[in-house]
Amino acid sequence: MLTPLGFSLLRQLADGELHSGEDLAAIVGLTRARVSQVLKDAEAAGLALERIKGRGYRLLEAPNFLDAKAIRVRLDELVRAHGATTVPVSVEVTDQVDSTSSELMRRSQRRDVHGVALAAEWQTAGRGRRGRAWTAVAGGSLTFSLGWRFEQGAGFLAGLSLAVGVAVARALEAEGLTGIALKWPNDLVHRHLKLGGILIELNGDALGPSSTVIGVGLNVRLPAGARKDIPVPVTDLATVAGKKAAPIERNRLLARLLAELASVLDQYAKDGFAPFAVEWQHRHAYQGKTVKLLLPDGATVTGKVAGVDASGALVLADGPRRARFLSGEISLRRA
Ligand code: BTN
Repeated sequence: MLTPLGFSLLRQLADGELHSGEDLAAIVGLTRARVSQVLKDAEAAGLALERIKGRGYRLLEAPNFLDAKAIRVRLDELVRAHGATTVPVSVEVTDQVDSTSSELMRRSQRRDVHGVALAAEWQTAGRGRRGRAWTAVAGGSLTFSLGWRFEQGAGFLAGLSLAVGVAVARALEAEGLTGIALKWPNDLVHRHLKLGGILIELNGDALGPSSTVIGVGLNVRLPAGARKDIPVPVTDLATVAGKKAAPIERNRLLARLLAELASVLDQYAKDGFAPFAVEWQHRHAYQGKTVKLLLPDGATVTGKVAGVDASGALVLADGPRRARFLSGEISLRRA
């Protein structure tokens, strides 16, 4: 596991130059043996490091670290390009946290987290839907959460995770990544392999207002070792982009995601999910396909995907009959 110390060392090595163990030890105030151990842990977390006996260490592929300032600069560029005045989002980056969503949920008990975006290089307890863990690798994933306040209550927010999927797909497309699709309720997929996920949590009264924390996890460049720990077939953005493409720049991508999210959330607050339903269906990997739903009580339902309704419920057709399903606890499988 990468510790904050690991990150300080990696930041020293981020220039891609050779650094002696002695110099590194002096900079971070550790012994050389401890530096060696911390860097071994970094390798285990998926970073490609070269050790040259008697000379030191060099990062073979310098991770482009998340950088709040770089994200802000890019966000402002995007805003200027679209003629808007500003994106009402403040960006924070941390090396390590248990989960960006858990952290914003904790903060939301004490203060308003509307417009606060928190991205982490490393989550020690990343959470997925249905109580699952979310696996990410330092430097090879993009994990962030965004706080957003809505005047309405939970019923109005039923389609929010689908609208967020639209925002993420738009952002990836705007960054030149093609063939990205959505899988109900809120997975991002490419050729039916999971590329990312969305986790929405909320606090508030049934009638509103609601304070939501929108968590997004994307696989940017997953080493083979990390894929083994993930229980579903996965892919990453580097694969989607193709071998000839330039490496994915995570700061640039995060700025694009925040810009698209702010615009989608703003519209959602006014009009709900309805304006996104047609686009969502168009992006659905299973539109018109026969699927099997696994319900929370263990039952399964099979039918043909007719689409989603204005509240974000999945509509399955079984002959002339239509059935609606609306729950974050349902899983969809290809039948
Ligand atoms: C899923 O597909 O199960 C949803 C995954 C959501 C993962 C993101 S990563 C950032 C944020 N922090 C978390 O702990 N989870 C979400």
